[in-house]
Amino acid sequence: MTEAPGPRPAGYPVGRDVPPFYVLDVLQAAQAMEASGRPVLHLEVGQPSTSAPRTAIDAAARVVATERLGYTTANGIAPLRDRIARYYADQHGVDLDPRRIVLTAGASGGFVLAFLAAFPAGGRVAVTEPGYPCYRNTLLAFERVPVGIAVDAATRFQPTPQVLDAAGPLDGLVVASPSNPTGTALRADELQALVAWGADRGVRLVADEIYHGISYGPPPPTALSFSDDVIVLNSFSKYFSMTGWRLGWMVLPPELVEVVDRLAGNLYICPAVVSQHAALAAFDATEELDGHVRRYARNRDIVLEGLAEAGIDEVSPADGAFYVYARTSHLADDSAALCAAWLDELAVAVTPGIDFDPVRGAEYVRFSFSGATEDVREAMDRIRVWLAERPHGLRA
Ligand SMILES: Cc1ncc(COP(=O)(O)O)c(C=O)c1O
Repeated sequence: MTEAPGPRPAGYPVGRDVPPFYVLDVLQAAQAMEASGRPVLHLEVGQPSTSAPRTAIDAAARVVATERLGYTTANGIAPLRDRIARYYADQHGVDLDPRRIVLTAGASGGFVLAFLAAFPAGGRVAVTEPGYPCYRNTLLAFERVPVGIAVDAATRFQPTPQVLDAAGPLDGLVVASPSNPTGTALRADELQALVAWGADRGVRLVADEIYHGISYGPPPPTALSFSDDVIVLNSFSKYFSMTGWRLGWMVLPPELVEVVDRLAGNLYICPAVVSQHAALAAFDATEELDGHVRRYARNRDIVLEGLAEAGIDEVSPADGAFYVYARTSHLADDSAALCAAWLDELAVAVTPGIDFDPVRGAEYVRFSFSGATEDVREAMDRIRVWLAERPHGLRA
């Protein structure tokens, strides 16, 4: 278990020490290489390689041409909140009051609102290591204390009540299912156990369900199936393939609705209005969007087979999302050096684990397979050939 440093001296600017999101540094290096004329195979970025669905693009064009597009209420337009409520009824059999749904500036905007509304300054919030770095960094920026919970292959990189019991007093717990960077999902009994664990101890659960819709086995359950007291985050970025439209949503316990409304109104007035109309139409694009998921499934097979052939055999199960988190400590002390070598020698960009786990991340690399199938295949071929020549990687 790791703990962030305590309060800073009086007068120290809050947020000044927030660490970078390293994957953006990798992306920058890859883009610099491309600018110098060398194409790069991108297995570092965690976003769909496709545009928004056709229905969303058409709806956006229509409202731009016909509507004034002034501010909406802070929680977003009612038809979209109604549609999201219907999504929970259709997908999960959960009956949801649309007043509990708030549209946000991506799931990222939802983190800010959730952490400010649910946890006190100095409040201790458990986040998994490895996990999505922005939970930790956003908590730090707002003077909440991230408490790193080490998880590994033994629990499929997810927290368990037993592991959490050792974390000391907590105000909150963030879980992601399917997770970034591992892709592993919590089964219904596992998620229910975490919800019950939190309820018994007054630990508020924040469930990041942004990768729902992208899974390769049974669809992961929503935390809303087990309690109304959890905060659920989701987004149009991943399944809906709309990262740049910056729209997400959260589902709140009834007692947090009013405070989040006040925060959202003050912080950014309302989420982007064009995006809200486009997102409503994106719910009619299931066929197109499910086609992307079928491609991710093919890419996943290529990565898993490619890694096995390359002798990289400690990999996360990747039940969903578009990531495989693989142990590379037999190839290099520091996976950042391995990633730099692959970028430089193979023009293949992947992300070092340090972004996701400040303690053990140097032993891992994250492969994102959200890109074009031919790019993923070519990247795995290059890595396989490189490793056939250098079976000990940088340790040779
Ligand atoms: C687990 C997880 N949560 C949240 C986000 C942020 O998504 P958004 O684009 O909705 O802000 C990401 C982006 O990669 C993610 O992987």
